[in-house]
Amino acid sequence: MPVPVIVLNFGHSVLRSLEDYTEAASEIYRHYRQGRNVVAVTSAQGDQTDVLMAEARRIGPEGIAQNLPELIQLGERKSAALLALALERTGASAFVRQARDIGLQARGPHTQAELVDLNVAQLQEDLKNHDIVVMPGFVGIGKNDRPSLLGDGGADYTALYVAQRLNAPALLLKDVDGVYESDPKDADDSPGRYQTISWTEARQRTDVLISPKALNFAEDKGVEFFIGRPGIPFYTRVGAVMGAPSTSPVPRKLRVAMMGCGVVGGGVYRRIMANPDRFDLVSILVRNPQKYINQGYPADRVTTDYDACVAARPDIFIDVSGPVEPALTYIRDMLDRGVHIVSANKQAIAEGGRDLLKRAGDRDVMLAFSSAAGGGMPILEMCRREKGRIVRIEALLNGTTNYMIDEICNGKTYAEALEAAQEKGFAEADPSNDVSGRDAAAKIRLLARLAFDIDVGFDRIPCDTIENFNPPEANKCVIKRVSVCHDHAHGFDASVELRNLCPDDFLAGARGEEARATVYFTDGDAYRIRGKGAGRWPTTEAVMADLYDISERVAFRTCNLKASPVL
Ligand code: HSE
Repeated sequence: MPVPVIVLNFGHSVLRSLEDYTEAASEIYRHYRQGRNVVAVTSAQGDQTDVLMAEARRIGPEGIAQNLPELIQLGERKSAALLALALERTGASAFVRQARDIGLQARGPHTQAELVDLNVAQLQEDLKNHDIVVMPGFVGIGKNDRPSLLGDGGADYTALYVAQRLNAPALLLKDVDGVYESDPKDADDSPGRYQTISWTEARQRTDVLISPKALNFAEDKGVEFFIGRPGIPFYTRVGAVMGAPSTSPVPRKLRVAMMGCGVVGGGVYRRIMANPDRFDLVSILVRNPQKYINQGYPADRVTTDYDACVAARPDIFIDVSGPVEPALTYIRDMLDRGVHIVSANKQAIAEGGRDLLKRAGDRDVMLAFSSAAGGGMPILEMCRREKGRIVRIEALLNGTTNYMIDEICNGKTYAEALEAAQEKGFAEADPSNDVSGRDAAAKIRLLARLAFDIDVGFDRIPCDTIENFNPPEANKCVIKRVSVCHDHAHGFDASVELRNLCPDDFLAGARGEEARATVYFTDGDAYRIRGKGAGRWPTTEAVMADLYDISERVAFRTCNLKASPVL
């Protein structure tokens, strides 16, 4: 099945600090989980280009040196590597490609070159294999196979060129959420923001925001594109049509409470605290407050008391606890109070069944649980999106098992492998659900509900345990424990089964805690998806993406602003 692609450009104004790369990786993940492959084009970090230019002036000849691009391109290249590392932490299968790798050819003066070619087939192949490709902007391969710079705004221009060649939409990410009548940072009043603006008008208003070279290219080739800010759900569309400016929305800061603060909760806590403009963490419900206070968590917000958590009036309740109870009771109660839910607790969500969806519907609030199955692999989004087309899902859904089987096959004992999985934070507090298959079975229940609208009990999901698993000797196959659900003419089957897979099977290629799934459609087509199935940062990423989805609806749509179309 062809996967839609989006080209994102991260401008230097949104890559000022190392933390900004974490936010940029989240932006990419949010597009990826909507079912798109992503080409991410990087600018240099903050003022890196100026720093490099100053160094070149100090050591090099006067005027424009032949070797200048060798130095200046390092800013964008470093940025691409940092972004790929931030993505790798989330479990994304990101891959850096340099201009040379994808045949991005430039012609003309070596500091003001024009892009003239791209090896589209190579880039498409890379996207097929890795889903996300990160590439430095601002540089192409010029005369004599040497790098050539593309001039001011060269990263925007790179993104628009690649988008045009791939026939994909482009979103240029800046530190403002679109094009305004005048720069909102300098203005005393509140200038209007354009939802759509023509290339011509944009050229007159935004020579700093978008370079004339990028705009000229877009107009010349008829490329419409979007300008926006990471994490903000609306954009300015720049193209043939001119619109009128309108009042810019002021989002409401959302009050967030969380329950549980273990491996995943600790990651979520850090990400929320790093976003004080968007979220106010009002309560942290844990069993042992002192442990967290000693670690520097805010003493006035850490509590064992659910009533105190309710009294903090959260807009959103995040459940990152493990057991069914008390999570399920609290989720029901919060839904009835009109509080949005983000839950990573697959056992509670599976057990709560349709009743939870009904309660959420009754109060018109969101019940989001992307992180409850697949960790950072957005399998539940895929099920929701493709519902009605899916006939069968085969997936590696338990990171602990995947990791343990690999480790045992590499020579560890069962006990050593389990201990390592616990140390890495993959296993549940009580790992018996992981090894018995019940954890994967709970995830199948969630998949079945979203993909097939079927409620399936644990008693209908036979599970192969991996307890005391020993690898067979001289086995050419790859052993994995595969979670299966299949809707067919004679009914519905689900299982968690140890299988010998051919080495070239997509699932067999998973390493360590990696999650993978092959989803089969009614028309015979199949779709492959992957991510890290367990661990702090991949799971945190899925929780944060849910949080941003809710924020989009609660903080922004209450401003009566329609999200921009297309993206
Ligand atoms: N214990 C779970 C696993 C955590 O290993 O997959 C992620 O759901």
